[in-house]
Amino acid sequence: MVSLRFLLCFLFVSNVYATIVSHDGRAITIDGHRRVLLSGSIHYPRSTPEMWPDLIKKSKEGGLDAIETYVFWNAHEPTRRQYDFSGKLDLIRFLKTIQDEGLYGVLRIGPYACAEWNYGGFPVWLHNMPGMVFRTTNKAFMDEMQNFTTMIVDMVKKENLFASQGGPIILAQIENEYGNVMGPYGESGKAYIKWCANMAQSLDVGVPWIMCQQNDAPQPMLNTCNGFYCDNFVPNNPNTPKMWTENWTGWFKQWGGKNPHRTTEDVAFSVARFFQRGGTFNNYYMYHGGTNFDRTAGGPYITTSYDYDAPLDEYGNLNQPKYGHLKQLHDVLHSMERTLTYGNISTIDFGNSASATIYKTEEGSSCFFGNGNEKSDATISFQGESYFVPAWSVTILPDCKNEAYNTAKITTQTSMMVKKPNEAEDTPSTLKWSWRPENMDNFLLKGKGESTQTQLFDQKVVTNDQSDYLWYMTTVKFKKRDLFLGKNMSLRVNSTAHVLHAFVNGKHIGNQHAENDKFNYVFEKDVKFKSGRNVIALLSITVGLANYGAFFESKPAGITGPIFITGRNGDETIVKDLSAHKWSYKTGLIGFESQLFRTESMSKWSVESVPFNRTMTWYKTTFKSPLGNDPVVVDLMGLGKGTAWVNGNNIGRYWPAFISSKNGCDANCNYRGAYHAEKCLTNCGEPTQRWYHVPRSFLNAEGDNTLVLFEEIGGNPSLVSFQTTRVGSLCANVYEKSIIELSCDRKPISAIKFASFGNPDGNCGSFVKGTCESSNNTVDILTQECVGKEKCSIDVSTKRFGTPDCSGAVRRLAVEAIC
Ligand code: GAL
Repeated sequence: MVSLRFLLCFLFVSNVYATIVSHDGRAITIDGHRRVLLSGSIHYPRSTPEMWPDLIKKSKEGGLDAIETYVFWNAHEPTRRQYDFSGKLDLIRFLKTIQDEGLYGVLRIGPYACAEWNYGGFPVWLHNMPGMVFRTTNKAFMDEMQNFTTMIVDMVKKENLFASQGGPIILAQIENEYGNVMGPYGESGKAYIKWCANMAQSLDVGVPWIMCQQNDAPQPMLNTCNGFYCDNFVPNNPNTPKMWTENWTGWFKQWGGKNPHRTTEDVAFSVARFFQRGGTFNNYYMYHGGTNFDRTAGGPYITTSYDYDAPLDEYGNLNQPKYGHLKQLHDVLHSMERTLTYGNISTIDFGNSASATIYKTEEGSSCFFGNGNEKSDATISFQGESYFVPAWSVTILPDCKNEAYNTAKITTQTSMMVKKPNEAEDTPSTLKWSWRPENMDNFLLKGKGESTQTQLFDQKVVTNDQSDYLWYMTTVKFKKRDLFLGKNMSLRVNSTAHVLHAFVNGKHIGNQHAENDKFNYVFEKDVKFKSGRNVIALLSITVGLANYGAFFESKPAGITGPIFITGRNGDETIVKDLSAHKWSYKTGLIGFESQLFRTESMSKWSVESVPFNRTMTWYKTTFKSPLGNDPVVVDLMGLGKGTAWVNGNNIGRYWPAFISSKNGCDANCNYRGAYHAEKCLTNCGEPTQRWYHVPRSFLNAEGDNTLVLFEEIGGNPSLVSFQTTRVGSLCANVYEKSIIELSCDRKPISAIKFASFGNPDGNCGSFVKGTCESSNNTVDILTQECVGKEKCSIDVSTKRFGTPDCSGAVRRLAVEAIC
């Protein structure tokens, strides 16, 4: 009886309090064990619920212990006190998916997120409340922030998802990088951070709270580091373990920008370096970046793709070698968990940025040999052995004797992704289009909106960000005799509109978009006015609201003026200021209101003379879903700028007409030396984003699917096509005495295009044989081992491939295989 009661009690306790999280200066402790934690950011609304299980499973297979996500306030509370947790916004379902996979969760409630998310995650209605100032001791703000934070915490508690309740969430975050911007908030900023800490603490979540980049984080908040490197980071309290909430695996992309690429070697180097120097928690930002569907991209000018060059690409494919090389690193670090978190630490400095760090417990030792020099390789002598440590790399020896991993020696394949035509269509490149014009008559000819004001307003104030579009309209009367100005008149608009279209008396007189980083510009066009009434209609379009910086909520958007008509007559210039005119406002476009993007929309579409290069035009077509499971993209080459929907699902803004500048790309990207967002760029002189993700769950596998485009500046839809993306070929270039796994990711390997064992040269796609080569037929060996198989594992040894004489140099195997 007693023992049964004991057993029941034990069962009860182990069920409810399965996970107890605490920390000390050394590490996060879970269930009494100090842990080495590897984590990755996946933002749930940047993929679909159907994608979550696969993404999270791949994260686990990639060696992660935890998934980190922000919570996006503006997505969940689009209108004050009206909440949305449906579909992609089903936070609880996402957290349960993490739990089902046996991973931990890190919940960054913020509720300020940044994250290149529209308005940093704040709802625009919040800004429009009287007397509102964000992120400071403003009563209205604090009340709303507390309301949302409490609601999220309660919701998560109700589902028992905090570790203190037996759930997966081991850490929660309040605010986000406030320390980076708090200067301008003065004393109020300091008081605000204290308030945040108290408020969070009062919510009693039973797990530690973190504050990133907050070196005055009040106890018991844990301040953590964000950046490309955090090995030098020292938390503000000796009881806070050294934690890295954002290790940026790449970078985000802006319209007009290029594709960022952070090398695998450098990401691995930063992680190994961090653990060498006492780190215990590393989170990749992003592990899967995903897609900014709908109007969720921040900015201004963040692209629809949020690929981030993360270990899982935008569509959820493995980004190799990044994924695999980091997986190996995670396995090695996990194998050293005990020595890393309990061992005594000693270091040896060899000079020239080379060092050894030894973690020693009674049971054994683990070592890191670091070489932070960007140019020179190092040879480290340690306990009678000598070790070659390439420049800008770290070698890890779990037993301080045998090298298990070096951050610069990649033994994972490089996968080259390709786009395949849609085989479900007979002629995939010829979709049949119908079209309709956007109905703008009321605005262009009558200047008639919903409200009038004798002032030019910031766009956010008028639209509450319910739409990207805002019409500013006014009428100007000229008497015949005023028309002495008639010949040389112009309209001059001081604009902070991200994109501006101007119409006078129904005629499109021009459009302009802000240069990236120059969101304040002057639009000026010559105009012919008539005597009598003239209608000026300006359409301002936002492309993501600012998400970063002190007081970013007040950065202007839209047409804040002044607006002038100027006339020149010889030397004389006459200026008419229209800024305090009667302006009529209208939020949104008619086609959006009548939901032309919905499949069941009854509106009339014409199949006759489908126009090209026509502004403000709707296009529609049907297509068959590509066969198989490979991720689907739509190629929008030929189009200008607008929005796209598949079966009524908004897949985001498109802007393939925005070509990135020709300069600044680096074909010979060198991983050595500190990474920054301008290093190793690709895609120069190409459309910023040409392919747009169409999640499989948006498609009907059988029957027709509908694509609707709203084109703003004019484009040619005849090149549009649906494609799938998958591994096209793979390469490896590895030293002997390693094992390489080759895989086409669920497809058989179809041929070996190149293989050489010796000292081959060149890069993936351009390998050539070197000066020494095995007499065995390497291509044959690999063909036998791999062709027809989904994966094969190759022991790169002389036993397998022969012993070419490479004058003592370490031999390598280079392979290129076709999928
Ligand atoms: C950080 C921020 C993240 C994200 C990142 C850049 O400063 O905390 O939310 O914006 O920069 O991708």
